[in-house]
Order: sequence, then C-alpha cells, then structure tokens
Amino acid sequence: MELIAYLEKVQETVDKTLLREYGDAYGDLYKASAHLLLAGGKRLRPAVLLLSADTVKKGRSDELLPAALAIELIHTFTLIHDDIMDGDRERRGVPTVHTLWGEPTAILAGDVLYAHAFEYLCHALADDRARVKAVTMLAKACAEICEGQQLDMSFEGRNDVTKGEYLEMVQKKTGALYAASAAIGGLLAGGTMVQTDALYQYGLQSGIAFQIQDDIIDIISSKERSGKDRGSDLRRGKQTLITIKACEKGFDLAPYKRDLSTEELDEVVGNLQKLCIIDEVRAIAVEYAEAAKKALSLIPRSAERDMLNGVVEFFIARGS
Ligand code: IPE
Ligand code: IPE
Ligand code: MG
Ligand code: MG
Ligand code: MG
Repeated sequence: MELIAYLEKVQETVDKTLLREYGDAYGDLYKASAHLLLAGGKRLRPAVLLLSADTVKKGRSDELLPAALAIELIHTFTLIHDDIMDGDRERRGVPTVHTLWGEPTAILAGDVLYAHAFEYLCHALADDRARVKAVTMLAKACAEICEGQQLDMSFEGRNDVTKGEYLEMVQKKTGALYAASAAIGGLLAGGTMVQTDALYQYGLQSGIAFQIQDDIIDIISSKERSGKDRGSDLRRGKQTLITIKACEKGFDLAPYKRDLSTEELDEVVGNLQKLCIIDEVRAIAVEYAEAAKKALSLIPRSAERDMLNGVVEFFIARGS
C-alpha cells in the first residue's frame, strides 16, 4: 500500500475508535479530555507503532490497536500541557483546552488521558513479559518528555544555547515518544532485543528530525495550514536551530519576542531565507532522517520497513 493511503487508514481507524470511546464524554473534565483528542491530528505515532510491529511480524499490528491508542493518548496529554506552557491559543484547528476550560481543568484533562493511556497499553494482546516491558518503556518516555519540556522552558530567552543543548532537549521532548512508539510496537510483536533497539534508535532519530521540521513549520506555515498559532516560538523566545543559526549570523531574533502580525512573520522568514538559515536547518533534519533509516537497516527488508523509511521522509517534507 502506498504510504499516504496507509497513514490515512490509520488516521481513520484511530479517529473512529477514539470517537467511540470519548464521543459521549460527560461533564467538564471529560469533555475537556475529549476535546483535543477528537479534533483530529495526524496520528503519526500510532502509525509508527503499528508499522514497527509489522516489520517484526507481519500482521501482528492487528491486535495492537490499544497500544497505538495509548501512545496517541500520551501524545495528546503532552499537547494539552504544552499549550499551557507555551501560552498557545489554537491546536489542531480548534481553541486549546485551557482557553476553553481554564488551566486547572486543562491540567486535569491531560492527567486523565495520561492515566487512560496506561490502561489501554495493558489491554494490548501480547505476552505478559513484553507488556510489562512496554509499560516500563512508556513510563520512562513520559519522564523524559518532562525533562525535555523543562529544558525547553529553561532555554526561553537565553541567547547562548548551543546546538548540543538544543539536540538534547528535542531528543527528550519529542524523540523519546517516537522511540517508545517504535520500540513498543517491536516489543509487543515479539521482537528480539536487536530488533527492538534498532526500532528505538529509528524512533529517536526520526523524532529529532520531526521536531526540527516542527520548528520550521512554526515560523513558515500559516495557522490555517498547521492548525496552530504561527510564530509561537518567536513570541516565547524559544531556542531552536533557527534562532541559534540566526544568532551566529548576527540576526538577533530577541526583538520578536511578542505577538507578531503575518506581515512581520513573512519579513522574518524573508530575512532567514536570505541568510540561508531555513535551508541549513533543513539539512540538519535530513541528517537525522538518514540516521533513522540507517538504524532501520539492521532489520530485514519488508514492505513495512520501506514504509517506515517513507514515514521519515514525510516527517521532514510536511507543512503541517
Ligand atoms: C506536535 O506533534 C508536537 C510535537 C512534538 C512537535 P504533531 O505534529 O504530531 O501533532 P498532531 O498530533 O498531528 O496534532
Ligand atoms: C512540544 O514541542 C513537544 C511536546 C512534548 C508536546 P512544541 O511546543 O514545539 O510543539 P507544538 O509546536 O506546540 O506542537
Ligand atoms: Mg508548543
Ligand atoms: Mg512547547
Ligand atoms: Mg513547535
């Protein structure tokens, strides 16, 4: 099957199942939990988990949908909390949870999804020992995301963040969950340690590439396209490869730490392009995409492995 068609199929299955599970949410807390979950999303982490399972054992993904949903619940929980931290107003084309229900309820709404995720993971049909390892791996990934998010915030407004510090931060805040998605898929499908490690590395490296592209999208894609506030990173003074390179080339982005109009953002993008910064950052995303594919080369070739390679290409080509 062609990659885009496959991703659409996973998206449809995840959307349908979540609607069945959360569609009749009752009361503020559960309505707030369901809001972002049912607002769409690319559902890429579930796709990575299912494809990873099938690279280990063809057809094994059929019984692992609960594990794929668990990852999507964790991801959505991190988004709800991230939007509070980043002060964002829109996500997936709808108002963020805290703008509708307030921060205290949004925190709890995220917590509910976090708890449900572990319940779902335990419902995946797999060997008990593999399931315990998967739960442990997901719990570790969650703590790493917290570490990454803490670093992300601690970098706000600093002007001396290095590329190394940035990479550690994105590896934790974004790489860790993609790594867990791929490795848990492999583990639950009965993969060997070598296969699971290769999948973990694949997820980690591709997750870094994914976040680098997300930083580019933040500044270049319209709100209509991305479904998120454009220029949020500049407004918060986030440190990304874009700001690090701009600083190296003498283009100070600190004055843009405020609400910016479309015209102002277009002007910043124009200046970044003149300095070749977007292209240079893109080239770094390509390096991580290549590292992800290299990690996968330890696994025997299959249609599913080819699709995982395609997924990384998609990560760095996407505009939303
Ligand atoms: C956004 O993730 C958060 C990051 C890690 C950059 P996605 O771009 O996968 O968001 P959705 O799930 O499609 O909304
Ligand atoms: C967030 O990174 C990564 C998470 C762990 C949620 P961003 O803050 O860049 O994600 P977006 O751009 O808001 O989706
Ligand atoms: Mg954010
Ligand atoms: Mg953030
Ligand atoms: Mg972002």
